[in-house]
Amino acid sequence: MEQGRDEFFMARCLQLARLGAGHVAPNPMVGAVLVCEGRIIGEGYHRHYGQGHAEVNCIASVRTEDRHLIPRSTIYVSLEPCAHHGKTPPCADLIVAEGIPECVIGCIDIFAKVAGKGIARLEAAGVRVKTGVLEAECKALNSRFFTFHGLQRPYVVLKWAQSSNGFIAAEGGRPVRISHPVTDRLVHKWRSEEAAILVGAKTAQGDNPRLNNRLWSGRQPLRIIIDLNDKVPASHQVYDKSQPTVFVTTKAKPDQDHILVDGVQSLLPQLLQELHARSVQSVLVEGGAYTLQHFINDGLWDEARVITGANPLPTGVVAPTLHGAVLEDTLLLETDRLFFYRHG
Ligand SMILES: NC(=O)c1ccc[n+]([C@@H]2O[C@H](COP(=O)([O-])OP(=O)(O)OC[C@H]3O[C@@H](n4cnc5c(N)ncnc54)[C@H](OP(=O)(O)O)[C@@H]3O)[C@@H](O)[C@H]2O)c1
Repeated sequence: MEQGRDEFFMARCLQLARLGAGHVAPNPMVGAVLVCEGRIIGEGYHRHYGQGHAEVNCIASVRTEDRHLIPRSTIYVSLEPCAHHGKTPPCADLIVAEGIPECVIGCIDIFAKVAGKGIARLEAAGVRVKTGVLEAECKALNSRFFTFHGLQRPYVVLKWAQSSNGFIAAEGGRPVRISHPVTDRLVHKWRSEEAAILVGAKTAQGDNPRLNNRLWSGRQPLRIIIDLNDKVPASHQVYDKSQPTVFVTTKAKPDQDHILVDGVQSLLPQLLQELHARSVQSVLVEGGAYTLQHFINDGLWDEARVITGANPLPTGVVAPTLHGAVLEDTLLLETDRLFFYRHG
């Protein structure tokens, strides 16, 4: 089959895969289509964590009158079919059992139990396999999954709001409204999309934030508070038990979920290692400046989203400085300008 067609059907796999956003983590989003002589006879995607994979849903969607076409079809799938018994049986076995002669794959799975084994199983059974179609797009779709398994740490998204002249808070750390209410809504959507949200002690202490998702539908993130010296009062909202919360500390906290660290030396690598062990696939770091700057200086970030409000402040807490950032996109939202960077 010519190159353009493979890309066309893989693009459809990506469209389908995205429909699983917010429902499949820590699994990757995956889409699949089954094509016979240029006609799509089946489509599917991974809808919910623990439920059928894209290939299973795709094959199940084929109409009775088209089922005889399956052994003459090509299956397109955005991620290598699995070869292991997880919560569902191996998809590579299903493709073989259905007699599908050809499989076109977007990118190879990085998850150790799959990595190349799905392809090996297909090829051993005589299925023709082609890989790397829209590979960059397929990997980018699951950047959290690939970072988590490849770098053995959560995917880190930095976020802050700054005044038009670069302050994130007023003098003395007094919180002020910087962003437009519509942007706040978008930020809550972002909170619903990440596994965890993290702030430093001074933000938890001074702003007394709830760190939840109230302005969007969907999941509540795990709250992570870096409070090495137990400075945040127990009366503050991060102690309200309304959602799972973990404190990063140098002293054990018997009544609270906590992560013990040795001290400030290599704090962030230690913390991210522990979050990886707890299967936390992504973290939204919301401040303050000190905390954000530590992630930046340690090179432990993947994306930064900077919201610049319409008004200046006379003085205040200076916004962090990004290093090695590549501007990917901008957005004008009411009176705010949003800048989206990736770590280059
Ligand atoms: N505009 C925005 O987007 C935004 C967002 C959040 C906060 N803010 C503002 O930011 C201000 C607070 O920022 P801030 O920079 O002063 O403080 P911060 O980052 O909130 O907290 C800093 C404290 O957190 C602990 N900490 C965090 N990361 C650490 C690390 N890697 N190693 C060691 N300790 C670490 C330390 O606590 P100990 O000193 O106890 O060890 C440190 O002093 C507030 O005024 C808040 O209103 C603005």
